[in-house]
Amino acid sequence: MEPRKILLNEDEMPRQWYNILADIKINPPLGPDGTPLTPETLAPVFPMNLIEQEVSTDRWIDIPEPVLEVLAIWRPAPLVRARSLEKALGTPARIYYKNESLSPPGSHKPNTAVPQVYYNKVFGIERMTTETGAGQWGSALSFACAQFGMQCKVYMVRISFDQKPYRKAMMETWGGQCVASPSTETRAGREALERDPDTPGSLGIAISEAIEAAVADETGKTRYSLGSVLNHVMLHQTIIGLEAKRQFEKIGEYPDIIIGCAGGGSNFAGLAFPFVLDKINGKDIDIIPVEPAACPTLTKAPFVYDHGDTARYTPLLPMHSLGHAFIPPPIHTGGLRYHGMAPTVSQIVTEGIATPKAVTQIQALEAGVLAARTEGIIPAPETTHALACVVSEALKAKAEGKEKVIVFSWSGHGLLDLTAYEKFLSGQLTNYVLTDEEIERSERIFENFPKPTLLKSR
Ligand SMILES: Cc1ncc(COP(=O)(O)O)c(C=O)c1O
Repeated sequence: MEPRKILLNEDEMPRQWYNILADIKINPPLGPDGTPLTPETLAPVFPMNLIEQEVSTDRWIDIPEPVLEVLAIWRPAPLVRARSLEKALGTPARIYYKNESLSPPGSHKPNTAVPQVYYNKVFGIERMTTETGAGQWGSALSFACAQFGMQCKVYMVRISFDQKPYRKAMMETWGGQCVASPSTETRAGREALERDPDTPGSLGIAISEAIEAAVADETGKTRYSLGSVLNHVMLHQTIIGLEAKRQFEKIGEYPDIIIGCAGGGSNFAGLAFPFVLDKINGKDIDIIPVEPAACPTLTKAPFVYDHGDTARYTPLLPMHSLGHAFIPPPIHTGGLRYHGMAPTVSQIVTEGIATPKAVTQIQALEAGVLAARTEGIIPAPETTHALACVVSEALKAKAEGKEKVIVFSWSGHGLLDLTAYEKFLSGQLTNYVLTDEEIERSERIFENFPKPTLLKSR
């Protein structure tokens, strides 16, 4: 039998994260007055040890031992050869995936939840607040908080809260608290409900609620945690790509095409960033973030300064954005319904290092069902977006008769997302593709903000 999985031992797990800020330039985040932010301004929201990581330009950052001990519950994650999918497609391409669905909450999200909770704990924080879209991030933070004996409060985007009731139960099992967002608990939530009492919610609103709840704690023992977008989140996720590199070395392969679905960008970045340096240094690799056509941040939205949340509590970040008040259509991929994109991911797209693609939810679910029937794992709806792109690249390789090596991140399982599959299989799923007018309307919001410079890293 030819091996299906390429495994690493626990002692082969990377001991350092890769920081892309050592190798690319990005525009600085800006404060409300339009000047670059100082680390101190972020102190009410994040602990200083994480703020230091956020601004660090050191290429390698040590992973603390207590973090490695928790990551070792499921890491190193296998690199799997998707032979059955290859066979079904009749492609000469060799397809591999990092199986990030094996973590306790079922996605890549705890790769950063664990270090974030650890650094907060070391800083003396007792309680954390956050938002969640699909529910994967809220579950990941609840799991990590349980590991380090911390309290956790999660604002879950209303549409996902209704679509995925068992995510709340999962968070509560780990000791977390979960409320639907917009809630009446915060000013940001109440204002959103006044604007539209039936709103499906958005990550932008949920982020505002979680920041407000953290800052409002007068004891100073609560901090906010973001599951994507920020530099330190991308940093923690690079363990995916660093492991993959070692696994490819073991079998003497190197990928031609790297694919990851992108909501705020952390899953994509986690796999791709360790390979970006090779590309900057001349390697010929196609690096593809995949997003929903219903929320086409990288493929349709401009590179601007915008807020990361709806109530404008966050600094202005240089990113591709559909506008901070944008409420994405109620697609079944809660984790990809975000108006912005990580500044680092936005930067490599503006430089042409990565080439984004958008797919519809029906294309995505079709690929998801094919993957489930061949590889066996039912993918999270977010992951199915990457799969749609994998299928199209594998078929292109077939048409061209090329033996391409494709790697993608299987960012999560979909065992709590079965409503999406039920709707798809019964023909009730519809596509949402935003019109240019809708996009133009939502983008007016940042018309008068400062504009980022188009930087070249090399
Ligand atoms: C399974 C899964 N994949 C991907 C994503 C997208 O997020 P990000 O782009 O930050 O990785 C999410 C977000 O919730 C998710 O749950």
